[in-house]
Amino acid sequence: MPKTVYLYTVGCQMNVLDSELVASELLAAGYRLVDTPRAADVILLNTCSVRQHAEDKVYSALGRLKHAKQRRRRIIGVLGCMAQKDHQQILRRAPHVDLVVGPGQLGKLHEALETVQNGGGPVVAISAQRAAGSKAEVARSFVPFDVPRRGEVRPVRCQALVRIMFGCDKFCTYCIVPSVRGPEQSRPVAQIEQEVRRLADQGVVEVTLIGQTVNSYHDRSSGGSVRLADLLYRLHDTSGLRRIKFVTNHPNHMDDDLLAAVRDLPKVNPYFHVPAQSGSDRILKLMKRGYSVGQYCEMLQRIRAAVPQAAITSDFIVGFCGETEEDFQQTVELVRRARFKNSFIFKYSPRPGTKAAALWADDVPQSVKLRRNNQLLAVQNAISLEDNQRLVGQVVEVLVEGPSKVARKSSPAGDAPTEIVQLVGRTRCDRIVVFDGSLELAGQILPVVVQRAEAVTLFGALTDNRYSAPVAAAHSLCDPS
Ligand code: SAH
Ligand code: SF4
Ligand code: F3S
Repeated sequence: MPKTVYLYTVGCQMNVLDSELVASELLAAGYRLVDTPRAADVILLNTCSVRQHAEDKVYSALGRLKHAKQRRRRIIGVLGCMAQKDHQQILRRAPHVDLVVGPGQLGKLHEALETVQNGGGPVVAISAQRAAGSKAEVARSFVPFDVPRRGEVRPVRCQALVRIMFGCDKFCTYCIVPSVRGPEQSRPVAQIEQEVRRLADQGVVEVTLIGQTVNSYHDRSSGGSVRLADLLYRLHDTSGLRRIKFVTNHPNHMDDDLLAAVRDLPKVNPYFHVPAQSGSDRILKLMKRGYSVGQYCEMLQRIRAAVPQAAITSDFIVGFCGETEEDFQQTVELVRRARFKNSFIFKYSPRPGTKAAALWADDVPQSVKLRRNNQLLAVQNAISLEDNQRLVGQVVEVLVEGPSKVARKSSPAGDAPTEIVQLVGRTRCDRIVVFDGSLELAGQILPVVVQRAEAVTLFGALTDNRYSAPVAAAHSLCDPS
């Protein structure tokens, strides 16, 4: 009987990709993936440390798993950023954990599972801490985990994440990522090209290139110099590939070459996720972001001048150490001026081990953080709604991802491919579109006329009525997106 594995993932796209790779490797090793922890012999939690809340969720899951383990012998493993940051604390607080494997050691997971099965647990496999050696030594201890990609373990088969960088060297004062993901390292371009070609051969039509500061990509491995713009040119002609995205950008690396590549390459989506974090110069300086609000706005203007149809999105942290009402109002002002497509807004969460946690008090009360979060979100949502409403009546090009959440809930086992269900997809500018159609359309790029708009979702209908109810022909064919 093959062993069954349940894999629970929190955190960013780095973790989503790591979980996909872990699932692929364990499938190849004869394990079977299951949808509930109850049915699993092996339960793996792929964790995130970016905010306290993400860690609390994992500790409460581990609490519940203690009882699950008492009922039946199982292996419980903690993977990812918490494993790297807190391996001792995890084993102390949850002694029923059998293995702790950091994100730079996932290649050892399979072996660790065997060791535990043979009674040799608990196993701890983590990379060097940043202060433990030279940058090159620490970088080497974050070992790339490259396994053949398998479409069946991806949430949407036609879309794939592709890592182009590891780690981060920015050390924003609030952020734990440089400690848990190690030094910034760009992956050799030849490896990326080969991976993208293989994914396209498997039927992937959209790749998202990922890195913590993706636009600082710089591969010098083969003696040359390949930047993100060059990489986009090199991936562009991959046959079968229809769309290329890249996240997350740092404002200081938004070079004109990159903007020109996005403007000139039709497969590259006109979409930039480029977090500002705050609209106050004083706070940006405390955060050590390396730019002023003026410089950020100048960068936005360069994007809009080069790629006028681009959608730009941002992240903000509210309630950072010492943030006054005036600092916050400057953030509101930036959101009003910038007209982001959407913003991800987070309440500051002090991370032990970061400069901000060591130097400054977390002095903005939780209630004030919550109020600022809601206020900023309301300003952003009003802008998103206004911009989305301008798309009503227009036709957008949508990559069909599959059934929407609503459709999945009403028929969790999946429908017949030709039955009409509610589908979800994205425009080239990453706008979410919901419309009716058959499941067999997944992976296709189709024109959809927008009929109604909310702040984060567009609702529409396929203009081609072969698979859905007929709609009036649309007048403009553009991807405002
Ligand atoms: N590398 C990306 C994102 C990293 S983490 C970047 O540089 O933009 C994703 C987001 O989490 C960040 O953009 C930031 O807004 C938020 N974040 C990071 N650390 C945080 C903390 N300590 N408290 C609250 N939000 C945080
Ligand atoms: Fe964290 Fe800053 Fe690096 Fe982004 S750029 S991962 S926010 S340290
Ligand atoms: Fe979280 Fe690690 Fe990503 S801390 S945000 S999962 S890099």
